[in-house]
Amino acid sequence: MTRILSVESSCDETSVAIIEDGSTILSNIIASQVKSHVRFGGVVPEVASRHHVEQITQVIDLAFEEADSTIDDIDAIAVTEGPGLVGALLIGVTAAKTLAFIHDKPLIATNHLAGHIYASQLENELSFPLMSLIVSGGHTELIYMKDHLDFEIIGETQDDAVGEAYDKVGRLLDLPYPAGKHMDVLANTGVAEYNVPRAMINEDNLDFSFSGMKSAVMNLVHNANQRGESINHANLATSFQEAVVEVLVTKVLKALETHPETKQFILAGGVAANSGLRNGLTNALAEHHPDIELLIPPLRLCGDNAAMIGAAAYHQYQEQEFTDLSLNANPGLALV
Ligand code: KG4
Ligand code: ZN
Repeated sequence: MTRILSVESSCDETSVAIIEDGSTILSNIIASQVKSHVRFGGVVPEVASRHHVEQITQVIDLAFEEADSTIDDIDAIAVTEGPGLVGALLIGVTAAKTLAFIHDKPLIATNHLAGHIYASQLENELSFPLMSLIVSGGHTELIYMKDHLDFEIIGETQDDAVGEAYDKVGRLLDLPYPAGKHMDVLANTGVAEYNVPRAMINEDNLDFSFSGMKSAVMNLVHNANQRGESINHANLATSFQEAVVEVLVTKVLKALETHPETKQFILAGGVAANSGLRNGLTNALAEHHPDIELLIPPLRLCGDNAAMIGAAAYHQYQEQEFTDLSLNANPGLALV
């Protein structure tokens, strides 16, 4: 039995988890700072770092308490190395290094995006080859995996991430930060009255572009304002969501055509919480690829959390992929 204590602090959640054998959550404490960033309409990096500093020791204590464990039960310490905000990552990295040093435990540096994919391992066993769509605030990537920790990027956004586009459109509609969730709720109450372009949908590649779609919506709102016309916010949210989901689902189906041996498809990242995307992907796979098992994490594991970092780190532990105390935060860390 392997128990890993994992730390995640890449953005605006301070989280510490204790995971057994990469799949059983003994504890997963998440201290969110969203309330402190709402009034600024986005994450303020300096504020995020200060919150992580204030929270981290308490969150570590709570993780031990809830798991009914002590440091003696822990085989390794894992931490998100990147990508993320450098000042935020540094707090987690420093905490993890300190624990590893004092208690003489192996240290594992884990990629945040790998964590999002491995969130699904906390509910289901993974089988390969698998494909994953990562949709978060900073990333939109299609990943192909022949085995554990073997990542191949087969498609990615050329500009904005989906979550970023959601947050910016939502802000324009006066929704509080992070607006993605509120846009989703609003989208379920309207009809797709407005025309939003499906960027790159017909192009013969697996890449995305969300900046143009975001701008199209912004122009629609500005033009209406200039003409003194009112915009129906719910209908605009629905129009945007339908366009985004159609683009994502179309590219997923295209990717699966070129990789017919795929056994599982994993939806990953904060935007995996989106109801339109969850439904759209579920229906599309049931219709076109009924043999592919679709894994979508429960809502509590879609957003940033340390349990997913512990799930990915378990395989690094098995490979003895340890790092030393010279580990530094790497804000631009790539998956491959
Ligand atoms: O993975 P995540 O928690 O943090 C990053 O690693 O970026 O993703 C956060 C993103 C934010 O942009 C947030 O607005 C978006 O996920 N999000 C949603 C929904 N829930 C969270 N976007 C659309 N619909 C949702 N239901
Ligand atoms: Zn994330």
